[in-house]
Amino acid sequence: MVDLKSFDDLKVNWRTSENMAEVENGIVQSVITSPPYWDLKDYGHENQIGTADESYDHYLDRMQAVWSECYDVLREDGTMWVVVDTVMEQGDLKLLPYHIAERAEETGFLLQDMVTWYKPTAIAGMTDRNVVNKKEYVVYLSKSKDHKFHAKEGQNGIEDPAVAQGHRLGNLWRHPVKRGTVGQNVLHKAPYPTSLIDRIVNVSTDPGDTVLDPFFGSGTTAVSALELGRPCIGYELNEEFKDVIVERLSSLQQRSLTEF
Ligand SMILES: C[S@@+](CC[C@H](N)C(=O)[O-])C[C@H]1O[C@@H](n2cnc3c(N)ncnc32)[C@H](O)[C@@H]1O
Repeated sequence: MVDLKSFDDLKVNWRTSENMAEVENGIVQSVITSPPYWDLKDYGHENQIGTADESYDHYLDRMQAVWSECYDVLREDGTMWVVVDTVMEQGDLKLLPYHIAERAEETGFLLQDMVTWYKPTAIAGMTDRNVVNKKEYVVYLSKSKDHKFHAKEGQNGIEDPAVAQGHRLGNLWRHPVKRGTVGQNVLHKAPYPTSLIDRIVNVSTDPGDTVLDPFFGSGTTAVSALELGRPCIGYELNEEFKDVIVERLSSLQQRSLTEF
């Protein structure tokens, strides 16, 4: 089987992203991630952020440490994109994306937008007394006012149900979720769609720019980044993800082997 080390443009650090000493400051163009949610999923690691015995404030504090590290490793014109949704806690909705935005702003980030990712295929409600939740947010932040951003005419296309083709990129993005595409194990679930990450990579970077994901999971960020010619750095606590990452990247590897 192909080893992760054989991908020259990918470096995964198997430890907590609360300290990113391995990454030189000012070299990352775009941080693209989906964080662990508070009190939602047990990824089976003692350093995991967001376990049931952690208070919501403590969870936000630990996440803020990660945002602060991300700020330092970003270039001056860099951006950070956090795909995250609200969470229902004992019948009360927590506005997690807004709290993440506030904490990131405290570390120096500028909030650019709360993009809505519309998921037309979502069918389950949070409870049977709620409407079906068909969206997640993409918290879009920048390090400075002069950040890199390539929203071209026509990029909206048919993906935005609210705007006709040809208009400038809006903040309502339609990306269907395909279930069960990367295995049935609980560790391998909840990846975001590559079409969503492709869009962020294209909008926020140029070929050759470095992308970082501090909560790497099954490596969707790397699949998009490497496919689009951007080197990728990841942090992830669970080495159990190694096999599924290699599996997802193997088509790229095979392609580059045949190219040479
Ligand atoms: C929502 S998942 C990311 C899913 C990912 N976008 C994908 O495509 O599969 C969050 C990930 O954060 C990891 N994680 C939790 N606490 C962490 C920490 N302190 N440092 C690094 N990773 C952590 C979990 O193991 C989990 O894989």
